Amino acid sequence: MVEERKVEEEMERSVRDLRRRAQQFLGLKVEYEPPKRIIQWGEYTGIGKFEEPSEMPKEMRDLLLKMLTVQADTEFASIEQHSDTIFTAPTPSDRVKVARIMVDEMRHGWQITQLLDQFGPEGRKAKEWVLAVRLGNHRLQAFNTPFSSWEDVLVFTFLVDRVGIYQLRAFEGSSYGPLARAIPTMLMEEQLHVNFGFDGLKRMLKDSYQGVKNRERAQKALNKWFPMALDMFGKTGSKSSEMAVRYGIKRWKNEEARQMYLREVEELINELGLEMPDPNVGRKVL
Ligand SMILES: [Fe+2]
Ligand SMILES: [Fe+2]
Repeated sequence: MVEERKVEEEMERSVRDLRRRAQQFLGLKVEYEPPKRIIQWGEYTGIGKFEEPSEMPKEMRDLLLKMLTVQADTEFASIEQHSDTIFTAPTPSDRVKVARIMVDEMRHGWQITQLLDQFGPEGRKAKEWVLAVRLGNHRLQAFNTPFSSWEDVLVFTFLVDRVGIYQLRAFEGSSYGPLARAIPTMLMEEQLHVNFGFDGLKRMLKDSYQGVKNRERAQKALNKWFPMALDMFGKTGSKSSEMAVRYGIKRWKNEEARQMYLREVEELINELGLEMPDPNVGRKVL
């Protein structure tokens, strides 16, 4: 572990050096910021991040294990949901994009299960569960619902993958160092997934032959997935979400993240010319 930290410090130093030289000699502004090594918020602000579950208080370790199990479950579950789409997506280019999304989700699932391995026997048990569980028994309703149309696929990536972005952004800079460092590539890939959904919906709504029918189909799918997407943020006032912020695992409490998400999707739904569904209708997790 000490060796690994040394290597990372060395890498951070070389990135800083590279950035300084790029700025000095080439006039280039390099945006990459090495991940911070110090806890940024909550009870442990200002001290070094937790690098191993064994360093954490038990309450924090148990909570983090639960959260990572849910996260890993969503990654593998979405592959299961997408699997038929590989044969049913309307164009070859859509099929390539769906395949790409499945590969990305597989990699995310793999990254999170690597973290589960750090939690000893309990983590390995969680990993076995994640790999064995199938549609109908996943933790969140959005991942127990099969896709029954192309617009389901588009709205799912537009809405549900976007919740994924909020969850990942909440973990960005997490007090658990290995998780914080796994986030940037995952976030970049999730951005592709949500853009795929948004662009696909835009194209579908612009179809001049079926414009009206497509609008109805897209609206129906939006109304179907919207409450499930909002439920993914978890209960308002949840004690575990407060605890997660206090331990520096997550940046926002459930309701804070849900409100930010609502503001973003409202703008995008307006841009699509669809109707914003009532955020209180059809909800199961309040
Ligand atoms: Fe993912
Ligand atoms: Fe995704």
